[in-house]
Amino acid sequence: MTSDVSAQGRPPGSTLVTGIGELVTNARANEGPTRSGHNSDDDLGIMRDAALVISDGVVAWVGPSQDAPPADRRIICAGRAVIPGFVDSHSHVIFAGDRSAEFAARMAGQPYTAGGIRTTVAATRAASDEALRRTAAGLTDELVRSGSTTFEIKSGYGLTVEDEARSLRIAAEFTSETTFLGAHVVPADYAGDRRGYLDLVTGPMLDACAPQARWVDVFCDRGAFDADEAREVLTAGMARGLVARVHANQLQHGPGVQVAVEVGAASADHCTHLSDADVLALADSTDTPTTTVATLLPGAEFSTRSPYPDARRLLDAGAMVALATDCNPGTSFTTSMPLCIALAVREMHMTVAEALWAATVGGATALRRADVGRVAVGAPADLCVLDAPSYVHLAYRPGVDLMHQVWRNGVAVHHRRTDWINADG
Ligand code: NIG
Ligand code: FE
Repeated sequence: MTSDVSAQGRPPGSTLVTGIGELVTNARANEGPTRSGHNSDDDLGIMRDAALVISDGVVAWVGPSQDAPPADRRIICAGRAVIPGFVDSHSHVIFAGDRSAEFAARMAGQPYTAGGIRTTVAATRAASDEALRRTAAGLTDELVRSGSTTFEIKSGYGLTVEDEARSLRIAAEFTSETTFLGAHVVPADYAGDRRGYLDLVTGPMLDACAPQARWVDVFCDRGAFDADEAREVLTAGMARGLVARVHANQLQHGPGVQVAVEVGAASADHCTHLSDADVLALADSTDTPTTTVATLLPGAEFSTRSPYPDARRLLDAGAMVALATDCNPGTSFTTSMPLCIALAVREMHMTVAEALWAATVGGATALRRADVGRVAVGAPADLCVLDAPSYVHLAYRPGVDLMHQVWRNGVAVHHRRTDWINADG
């Protein structure tokens, strides 16, 4: 760190980012509660030939390039598109071990079962703090380099009091959006004693984990927890000040979504197998103070070769939809929100605008954050400068790394080349 950089790694003074060919602001997100069904660029608050000023880590000005005020330094985007940093509201990056053989077996015809989680639990328990930290550092670095400037991290591969608590301690080194997922599955050491494990999760494990978590989650599905068990875990967490989110309806139709809406969860994640009543409940929740976002995780369907969730049905009913990576070693070992956007567009029939909205404002809503997922005066300067003239390229150029620069809280945390900063052309 040099002397002209602040303690947070920010350069002093102001930075003008100019020559933006297409700026996605998500301006409509500032108008109050919104739904996700968007079909036009207008909904994304797109500005052409735009500029913005970053000062003290936040966006201080947004407008046409020609009206830009002077600043201490200038970044020239040369017609590139700029979008808000992605908000990845669902990841499991605290783990050890490798499950590539399980993936290969699936691709050879084996089905996915929740039981695979126990393989990662054994490896995670055996790993040192330093090994877990190294993996998390590597994966969060991947998240940032692929444009995610806000991300959530869950525990759930420790499943003892100590291993869950240390998973959350390490997760908190990387994000403030930490989730206690002690109720991922009943671990092998409690096989035959579900009651004992639930008492542990809602008792001593919660006591050890609540101080380091913002959220409480439960895997409510086949091979994991049923509706009553899920309610018990969520209400215990909520009584300790945590906010609920639920792994729901991934492997089969079940009660997960209804439980999520009933307890006012911020998000029901997966939503692969939904009844009409589930879709209605999610849509209706957008009219309440506790919107339950339908968070779709297409990386999981891709990597388990399962049918994708019906995003159109949710969007057309007026539900709030988010996209997230679900980065985990079992079902979705990707950190790439651009891949999720491409899958959502190609395989789930979301428009490109809907997918980008879901990956930004949708994720922010799923984390009950009004400050991220948009480009607005006063909001953190969390931005992606794309090596593309339009955000549409995120889906149009699948598998191609388009991240030219990623800014987080006004700091350029990733840049493809070194020749862009302090450009004065
Ligand atoms: O979100 N669904 C539950 N948990 C993870 C998968 C966990 C695993 O197989 O390791 C998920 O897909
Ligand atoms: Fe998950």
